[in-house]
Amino acid sequence: MSSNPRFDIAGRTVIVTGGGKGIGKVYAEEFAKAGAQVVAADIDAAAAKAVADRLAADGHAALGLGVDIANEQAAQAMTQATLDRFGAIDILINNASLMSVLPRRSWLEIPIDEWDRVMEVNLRGTFLCCRAAFPAMKAQGHGKIVNISSSRFFEGTPNRLHYTTSKAGVIGFTRALAREVGAFGITVNAVAPGLTASDTQVQSTSGNYLAARGSGRAIDRVQVPDDLVGAVMFLASPASDFMTGQTLLVDGGKAMH
Ligand SMILES: NC(=O)c1ccc[n+]([C@@H]2O[C@H](COP(=O)([O-])OP(=O)(O)OC[C@H]3O[C@@H](n4cnc5c(N)ncnc54)[C@H](O)[C@@H]3O)[C@@H](O)[C@H]2O)c1
Repeated sequence: MSSNPRFDIAGRTVIVTGGGKGIGKVYAEEFAKAGAQVVAADIDAAAAKAVADRLAADGHAALGLGVDIANEQAAQAMTQATLDRFGAIDILINNASLMSVLPRRSWLEIPIDEWDRVMEVNLRGTFLCCRAAFPAMKAQGHGKIVNISSSRFFEGTPNRLHYTTSKAGVIGFTRALAREVGAFGITVNAVAPGLTASDTQVQSTSGNYLAARGSGRAIDRVQVPDDLVGAVMFLASPASDFMTGQTLLVDGGKAMH
């Protein structure tokens, strides 16, 4: 079977933060199917290990790690464990986030410590994971960083104001970091998913909300995790090597930019 090397990620090492559950688990599974060596890292260590164990049982190269991305030492331990096992970090998908566990409520009701923790995980965590992966990517002379934002940035969706704000921050972070690391052959891009029926999101969201927020899409159906895989894989593959600092909105054509 012939293949086009532009889209080939076989043998590449990918870290998926938040890879134990939800959409991150789907990224981990799909990258493994594409032949990548997968590290699923999650604050839920048991879930991350279960994902890796299942992938390994299916013959894939996989490692499951517990990590709190908001903690500098933990982020460094994650990248070190990846290097110890696979010898490279080619792709970092910054997918872990505080989202589905957050109540939807007025901005006046958000506890200050909840605001701070959302910024700690969604922004500081992304920053720390990039910093921890950077030395290896720089030494390799290449690297692909994919940060997960949200369509909330484009829609200004209310009722998780801290979360929406943090996902807007991910876009500014992506743009500025792209300029700081481009000279080392590292690209930094973002994917902004629309409201997606991940297993974790479904548990925390009524079916009515999923249907109502999903309405108005050019492609009129509920978004599922699988809808995001192509965009993330494109930004992780050589096919996107001249693209950096950009944000791909994957929402079935609801918001357009
Ligand atoms: N599902 C949606 O509707 C939707 C829409 C737009 C953007 N997103 C984004 O896509 C990504 C995945 O979404 P999801 O639905 O799977 O979200 P989720 O909230 O269900 O899952 C996030 C994952 O991150 C992990 N995590 C949380 N805190 C962590 C920490 N400190 N360190 C390490 N791991 C931690 C969780 O255990 C979980 O596995 C998130 O970045 C989310 O913000 C989701």
